[in-house]
Amino acid sequence: MSKQEVIICHNLNENLNKAIAQCPHDKLFILMDEHTRNLCMPIIAGFACIKEATLICIGAEDVHKNMETLAYVWKELGDNGASRHSLLINLGGGMVTDLGGFAASTFKRGIKYINIPTTLLAMVDASVGGKTGINFNGLKNEVGVFSPAESVLIDTEFLKSLDTKNLLSGYAEMLKHGLISTTAHWAELLNFDFQTVDYKALQTLVAKSVQIKENIVEQDPYEKGIRKALNLGHTVGHAFESLALENNHPVLHGYAVAWGVVCELYFSHLKVGFPKDKLRQTIQFIKEHYGVLPFDCKQYDRLYEFMTHDKKNSAGIINFTLLAEVGDIRINQSATKEEIMDMLDFYRESMGC
Ligand code: GLY
Repeated sequence: MSKQEVIICHNLNENLNKAIAQCPHDKLFILMDEHTRNLCMPIIAGFACIKEATLICIGAEDVHKNMETLAYVWKELGDNGASRHSLLINLGGGMVTDLGGFAASTFKRGIKYINIPTTLLAMVDASVGGKTGINFNGLKNEVGVFSPAESVLIDTEFLKSLDTKNLLSGYAEMLKHGLISTTAHWAELLNFDFQTVDYKALQTLVAKSVQIKENIVEQDPYEKGIRKALNLGHTVGHAFESLALENNHPVLHGYAVAWGVVCELYFSHLKVGFPKDKLRQTIQFIKEHYGVLPFDCKQYDRLYEFMTHDKKNSAGIINFTLLAEVGDIRINQSATKEEIMDMLDFYRESMGC
């Protein structure tokens, strides 16, 4: 997989102009959703480099990350004269960058695309690393391809329109990056003040976070080995996300990941000796900022079932990425059903639910 250029922008107009110039094209398209059309498009609408662009707008939120929306984007591209030399810019959160990346990678066997992520989650995770796709048959990201953007332009100015819940959702992936990198970065993440958000400090943290992800993706773009480090918190996190959705109380992805981190760090402590003090401090931060997903022991079997159905797992073996220390990654760790039940007990006791 070719390497994508990830730029932390100080002047989005200049950076976008340069990124577009690096991709010779016959027609330019911009994909956005109903939210980013209103909140983000006005920020770039005056840029000369996009004045000829054809705009494509899709419905917002994960419910639209599906076949129908994908077909609509293909159709809009085709009906508006896109060729295999056209260029697509995805302006939005992870839903837009995932679906837009997939639409671009498949239209006429693949056209180039640029991502401009507008949420923290998309900046530090979804838009970087070349995973694209849609939900299908009730399963998240069930169909997709690895196909990197030409450039990813990260401008933290967009974060100023994001509410605290969405900031925290993205921040959970940053915390994960801290845990798989260094104690110093993990500690600075725990010290960030969400009461009075310092956007300059946040930009520095975002740059570090993206660098951690990029380094891992560069070593293992197709997730054969070390890229599995990025799944920390996600085996249990996805199960929490699915349970919450099934109970008609959907939660933001990053919240589920944060609660998943609580469980998977507990396993890390038990199985590979992750230090108890760092386990305690991380749980304290998560409890304080993300609250708790409440459930009782009657739902343990359902959670276990969700874990067995996760696409990262096969033949009934549930795989975890664990840590022996901050930055000391142990991939392909499995657990028995009894161990998973015990872990869920630990979660409920330590989170007080
Ligand atoms: N979201 C994890 C990855 O990109 O591998």
